[in-house]
Amino acid sequence: MIRSGGAGGAAGSAGGDKPTLAVVGATGAVGTVMLSILSERADIWGEIRLIASPRSAGRKLTVRGEQVEVVALSEEAFEGVDVAMFDVPDEVSAQWAPIAASKGAVVVDNSGAFRMDPDVPLVVPEVNAHAARVRPRGIIANPNCTTLSMIVAMGALHAEFGLSELIVSSYQAVSGAGKEGIDTLREQLTLVAGTELGTQPGDVRRAVGDTGPFPAPMALNVVPFAGSLKEDGWSSEELKVRNESRKILGLPELRVAATCVRVPVITTHSLAVHARFENEVTVEAAHEILAGAPGVVLCDDPAEGEFPTPADAVGTDPTWVGRVRRSLDDPKALELFVCGDNLRKGAALNTAQIAEVVAAELAAGAAAR
Ligand SMILES: NC(=O)c1ccc[n+]([C@@H]2O[C@H](COP(=O)([O-])OP(=O)(O)OC[C@H]3O[C@@H](n4cnc5c(N)ncnc54)[C@H](OP(=O)(O)O)[C@@H]3O)[C@@H](O)[C@H]2O)c1
Repeated sequence: MIRSGGAGGAAGSAGGDKPTLAVVGATGAVGTVMLSILSERADIWGEIRLIASPRSAGRKLTVRGEQVEVVALSEEAFEGVDVAMFDVPDEVSAQWAPIAASKGAVVVDNSGAFRMDPDVPLVVPEVNAHAARVRPRGIIANPNCTTLSMIVAMGALHAEFGLSELIVSSYQAVSGAGKEGIDTLREQLTLVAGTELGTQPGDVRRAVGDTGPFPAPMALNVVPFAGSLKEDGWSSEELKVRNESRKILGLPELRVAATCVRVPVITTHSLAVHARFENEVTVEAAHEILAGAPGVVLCDDPAEGEFPTPADAVGTDPTWVGRVRRSLDDPKALELFVCGDNLRKGAALNTAQIAEVVAAELAAGAAAR
């Protein structure tokens, strides 16, 4: 292990030359993708410790081709951990991330518990990697999956044109609601397959019965509500897109309006974006920026049927961008369509990238001592 102190400086001594990583929530939808991402990326970690609820203790999961036993979440589970990724519900992170930080780990948290805390940086390495270095609580937050699915592309366009407004409609996959969301859609698809359902009011709703974590049937449907209800009719997901985009881009006054819609896609969120800038834009310039932006793939040739879709983008790392058009009524605005795997860049990949930034910083600190 390498020690520098989670909350910015306390800490112990080196025991090995590769940092120890903990994955908290290793059994969940994000955790499962995290284990495959950790198996694919450069092997910078020493021990990788897998943590979940007591329900999963003793289960064996595969990471880096090896079987590793899951341990139950406890204070002792963080002994000797340099970096702890949290892929657990908000309330579990809220309680346990500060405990992990107090044990000396740098926490990278995927939940919504700390994202808007002014003492917790909200980091997307392609956009604001520098922010990860200042972490008074020893915690770095990972943005929500809807924001993450578009922000790399928007950050690149902002750097060139200066973003002033975002109007976003999302088409969100059911895996954004975790394993329960995936199971619910798969069960509903089995119930409606091969039937004539979807032709009479309420016939799908009656056939599927329990709608699981969603407020309406997901099979053969679109549902204009994701998250929980907040003030004035906005959903929590819609407010996250606004607040998190502002924080990541460092634009506290950015005008943002989002409508978040759940669609019957297993994994990969899509967003239709109207982006207004300080300066006039052209499709050619936007194409050039997007084609050269790290983490972005431009896929924009509708005459050839080339545009991003979730079915093509799922399981891949980049943000896919297509349908780039200049607004007919506003020379400062672009319309575009974006797809990003909500479990990869939208969650696990971004967390892994942040953890790698931290590991490099810890290694540099250890080398300088
Ligand atoms: N799904 C997405 O697209 C997405 C994107 C970005 C961020 N996130 C966030 O990432 C987090 C995980 O989401 P998910 O979709 O992976 O959820 P999930 O599939 O429901 O998995 C939850 C994980 O948390 C563990 N857990 C639950 N209660 C626990 C407790 N009391 N103590 C220890 N571990 C506990 C579970 O362990 P057991 O298996 O032992 O119960 C499981 O490993 C959430 O905060 C979510 O908002 C999700």
